[in-house]
Amino acid sequence: MAASRACRGREGRKSFAAGRKSLPRPLPAFPSAPARRERVSRRLSLAGSRSSCARARSVRSAMRAPEWPRLAGRARKPGSPPWLLLLLLAVVLASSSSPWPGVCEALEPISVGLAVGAASALTGFLSWPRFYCRFLECCPGEQEEDRPNGTALQQNLDEKLFGQHLAKEVVLKAVTGFVNNPSPKKPLALSLHGWAGTGKNFVSQILAENIHKLGLRSRFVHLFLATLHFPHDHHLQLYQDQLQKWIRGNVSACARSVFIFDEMDKLHPGLIDAIKPFLDYYEHIDGVSYRKAIFVFLSNAGGDLITKVALDFWRRGQSREEIQLKDLEPVLSVGVFNNKHSGLWHSSLIDRNLIDYFVPFLPLEYKHVKMCIRAEIKSRGDPIDETIVQMVADEMTFFPKDERIFSDKGCKTVQAKLDFY
Ligand SMILES: Nc1ncnc2c1ncn2[C@@H]1O[C@H](COP(=O)(O)OP(=O)(O)OP(=O)(O)O)[C@@H](O)[C@H]1O
Ligand SMILES: [Mg+2]
Repeated sequence: MAASRACRGREGRKSFAAGRKSLPRPLPAFPSAPARRERVSRRLSLAGSRSSCARARSVRSAMRAPEWPRLAGRARKPGSPPWLLLLLLAVVLASSSSPWPGVCEALEPISVGLAVGAASALTGFLSWPRFYCRFLECCPGEQEEDRPNGTALQQNLDEKLFGQHLAKEVVLKAVTGFVNNPSPKKPLALSLHGWAGTGKNFVSQILAENIHKLGLRSRFVHLFLATLHFPHDHHLQLYQDQLQKWIRGNVSACARSVFIFDEMDKLHPGLIDAIKPFLDYYEHIDGVSYRKAIFVFLSNAGGDLITKVALDFWRRGQSREEIQLKDLEPVLSVGVFNNKHSGLWHSSLIDRNLIDYFVPFLPLEYKHVKMCIRAEIKSRGDPIDETIVQMVADEMTFFPKDERIFSDKGCKTVQAKLDFY
């Protein structure tokens, strides 16, 4: 109790309430029992020490917990406001008790008719999706204007993503083809692999932004972190059930939902098989079609295989742009399938060919790190100073030890390092 009060005290009443609503960990919660969810979340706070409060706080700020299916469904419907109609009717009826009953009686049919007409028009206008969706986020429909723009995705990738010619090509081809297909036979499943800081989260963010304007903040984009959402191996069955319910609820609410599973290499082997039915070629499962959803898996697994190929090319004097998808994709799928710590170890998703693309992220070189530094300086609105670029790049560490070709953290620490200048 004391811990709970302390937590509440530190975060303030409002943020505590918001924390309960945003459901920091899905594990103890159960979709059909919001009250229980609240109780369990409170119990977590009770048990929590000061560090658990801090962790909950940082988790809430670091990422938005996936949307609760029922909330998502309720919030999405463009509501027609019947209260408006009632209000206007009330005004008209009230006017009939005016001091000039004769006049009112004469006007009664006209005014009532006008009021009803105006209210219906207004109600219709307000509930018109185009109007409504300007103010509240709506799930993209089938209209042309709702379709994600392939050119914008290409432009984003060209401008922002450095040194990843393969990832750029595959993601663009896969996403554009998928969203332009009016009747896909299965959902899109992409598995992104590579060394730390090479741009996997960055690409999934760009992808999400091109499907839903709000990107990772969208109610239709759901980010799962293995260590946060599925931390305990012994809850495997529970997680599997929750995950299925969660995905079912959100896809029923928005067919174009995007699910991103980060830290796949830290996921219990077997957990992800729970979503196999959703990734398969079924038209409907219990009345829900999953064919327009997008599933993205992010993992460091296979990073060593990719690095080995990149290093071989470098040592042979070949340019990294000569590396082709066929040099990496088969190695990657087999490597990940046989790797106990890939999250896809002996997974039926690979076995049944349900992952559409294995996307390799190459380790970044010195010149790419410099590009990241320049991009970061630009995004801060500062003029680019090449001396600073050079100094920050020189602070990064590179491997292999002798050749020092690839950055061992990719571009990951660039932002923090730049803060010192
Ligand atoms: N290839 C890249 N091009 C441009 N910027 C990049 C690239 N890779 C990384 N960055 C920058 O570095 C930051 C961190 O990268 P990101 O989080 O995408 O790495 P990651 O591949 O997910 O790493 P990890 O495996 O450690 O999670 C990004 O937000 C982006 O600003
Ligand atoms: Mg990442």
